[in-house]
Amino acid sequence: MVKSNLKEKKNKAAVLKIVDENAVKTTAYSDINLKKWRDYEHIKTDTLWEFPVRLKEGGHSNEYHGNYIPQIAQQIYERFTKKNDIVLDLFFGSGTSGIEAVNMNRRCIGVELKEDLAEKVSEKFTPKQLVTDVNIICADSASELAKDKIQARLDIMGSKQAQLLMLHPPYDDIIKFSDKKEDLSNCATTEEFYELFEKVARNGYDLLEKGRFACLIIGDKYANSQHIPLGFECMARMNKLGFITKAIIVKDVQGNERAKGKTANLWRYRALAGGFYIFKHEYVMVFQKI
Ligand SMILES: C[S@@+](CC[C@H](N)C(=O)[O-])C[C@H]1O[C@@H](n2cnc3c(N)ncnc32)[C@H](O)[C@@H]1O
Repeated sequence: MVKSNLKEKKNKAAVLKIVDENAVKTTAYSDINLKKWRDYEHIKTDTLWEFPVRLKEGGHSNEYHGNYIPQIAQQIYERFTKKNDIVLDLFFGSGTSGIEAVNMNRRCIGVELKEDLAEKVSEKFTPKQLVTDVNIICADSASELAKDKIQARLDIMGSKQAQLLMLHPPYDDIIKFSDKKEDLSNCATTEEFYELFEKVARNGYDLLEKGRFACLIIGDKYANSQHIPLGFECMARMNKLGFITKAIIVKDVQGNERAKGKTANLWRYRALAGGFYIFKHEYVMVFQKI
């Protein structure tokens, strides 16, 4: 009798254990199962990111000078979005955020200023994807018009607001993307760049769901023999709008570099002669709308 009771108890405990193992515990903004947190070795939780090679598979190419590496989207989407969530990218460029959204069963709205680029990027998606998964808008992301257009697309996609904001602006005038006056790479001064960035970020803030996250990818620059901390000033603007900073990640830029090899020695000479250091990093900053 005692023996059979013991056996029953053991069976019950085993069943409970199986139920527990199958249980899912997630945050409100991610599908990562915290009960199985040991299974997510590929997810980064530290602040130094090194990706020796740019991912080229999964629809990505490196034809657009100034695109970010897809591994950033992979890391950020898995940690800060759930399946079907809408990612809003206000500097869509060659569409890295959209391609990775499709690859990871998320949706995306991308805004890009250059008409020819917006049109060309559309060709990366199937007609069906362009209806259900990826919406590309050609507009100035700092404008009220862009905000209205995004709102209309969100409505069609069945959501009042987006669930993740991606911001990869020009790094001031380091790469000139167009001659348009609304282009952040075409500002007369760095102060004007900050002002325009803030306007775009404000639109992003208004269009993002409360409790959700924003990711800013940005690098600094040198001008007039000085380090200009574009990243920290843009972070300050994000904070001013109401975002709290969750992380400042330093990312090795090696995967981004193209044909720097030939001029490496020249840069080294300039650094030694001018008393500065050659940039090897950019920032991936994470914010939350609280
Ligand atoms: C650094 S690139 C983004 C690249 C993109 N993340 C990718 O992976 O391809 C910045 C982009 O912002 C666009 N841009 C600049 N000013 C803009 C504005 N006011 N509104 C919308 N897009 C803008 C530029 O044309 C450029 O394509």
